[in-house]
Amino acid sequence: MSRQANKGRQGNKGQRGGKPPARGQVGRAGQRSEPRNKRGADSRTTQGARRGPGTDTRATREPRRGAEPTRPRRHAPAHGQPHNQAPNQSHGPTSAQPETPLPKDVVARLAGAAALMQGGAPLRVGQWLWTTREGSERDVVEELLMRGDLRPRFVAPALVASERAPDDGGERLDLTFARQGFPISAVIHETELAALADRLAEHFIPQLTAAPQYALHVFVPDSTPANLLAARAQSLADLLAQRLERALPDKQRMLDSELRRVSVPLAQVCLYARDDAAAGSLPSDRALSNAPGGRTRMRLDGAAPSRAARKLEEAFAWLGVSPGPGELCVDLGAAPGGWSWLLLERRARVIAVDPARMDPKLAVQRRLRHVQGSAFDYAPEEPVDWLFCDMAWRPLEVAQMLARWSRRRFTRLLVANFKLPMKRKAEMVERLRTTLAQGGFTAIRTRQLYHDRDEITLTARVR
Ligand SMILES: C[S@@+](CC[C@H](N)C(=O)[O-])C[C@H]1O[C@@H](n2cnc3c(N)ncnc32)[C@H](O)[C@@H]1O
Repeated sequence: MSRQANKGRQGNKGQRGGKPPARGQVGRAGQRSEPRNKRGADSRTTQGARRGPGTDTRATREPRRGAEPTRPRRHAPAHGQPHNQAPNQSHGPTSAQPETPLPKDVVARLAGAAALMQGGAPLRVGQWLWTTREGSERDVVEELLMRGDLRPRFVAPALVASERAPDDGGERLDLTFARQGFPISAVIHETELAALADRLAEHFIPQLTAAPQYALHVFVPDSTPANLLAARAQSLADLLAQRLERALPDKQRMLDSELRRVSVPLAQVCLYARDDAAAGSLPSDRALSNAPGGRTRMRLDGAAPSRAARKLEEAFAWLGVSPGPGELCVDLGAAPGGWSWLLLERRARVIAVDPARMDPKLAVQRRLRHVQGSAFDYAPEEPVDWLFCDMAWRPLEVAQMLARWSRRRFTRLLVANFKLPMKRKAEMVERLRTTLAQGGFTAIRTRQLYHDRDEITLTARVR
């Protein structure tokens, strides 16, 4: 499914989404809805997911091809289930939605992907260079094949080149598996680092004179062999920065943290071998990332119950927004509680849904309630501000369940992490995007974040 096709499929004609109950409404079983005022949710654990009032009647209007939860779970899995394993079947929906076939031209292009993984051809000026996670090169190649006739190919671990970039209409580049990218305007071989810096400076100076400010990124591909060159890349960055400052004394070099609010020429250098660098620049507001090579390392306070919190911290940095004090968040697949902990740190109210146990230090939090049950059996008792999902479960079934949250206007915003242990991840990402767009989610963005492994993060909002 092409991204264009995805965009064109965002209508949700024929889908019914009953309105969730009004604030504070008392439910069928006499349960009061989650408070939206400053009182906050309490921290008790509810055994078994509670259905929201009226959920059963709405469920009967939902198309049955969806995976409407009907049966309660039988066994609670231990938390920390490996991301690449499907958890116990008993937590899942009862049926899966049939998959939409890919267009024939996309299938034909994807059939040629294996032949593009040979490597060995030198980089050329005019190509685009993409960095990725080591091991995800084929995902980048497949994603580019799906986005048009871009002729991608493997270059080296963590590096892919293509003849063209996807046409994003001059907007910020939007790829899931590439971390950073630029059009190559120079390929330079020099054995002496100072000479390499001289030639790079000569190359960039004419490109940077027009703007009052610029940014500079020098990086190595994030691969085992290339990471050994990290110290050399840092020395090259220092030498090149000195030369540019000397040649352009009236130009201001911007910090990475400032790139979110201004657009400046972003000069990039990828030191892909000891004596070989590819260079190019593009406006910083088109770049995939504001971090060199797209590596956004997040540091977390040691109190977080799990390392998963770093993924969410990075997602917030990518999204540029995060929940504020008092906002109501649902966290599906919450245990042991890294994401919930981060949300509580931001003073949000959290309903954590997971059959597994939460970290005991979260149990004392007044603003957290743990619903100990399957997300497939859960519906909120009133609309929430944010829906978070980090469930270790089959991605399409999770997407179908999330799409129902949108149809019913149960949330405004979504941040979801999907586990992708399969080959053909790019194809799966398009299916996920389509499923969520059909549910009514809009502004869908997907990215394999720096802290994501065999998984991707998706953000969206409800129209
Ligand atoms: C990667 S862990 C989540 C980590 C969590 N976000 C954190 O920050 O600590 C995946 C979780 O998905 C949960 N899970 C699996 N199936 C589920 C289901 N049907 N409903 C809710 N949670 C489920 C597992 O119990 C597990 O705790």
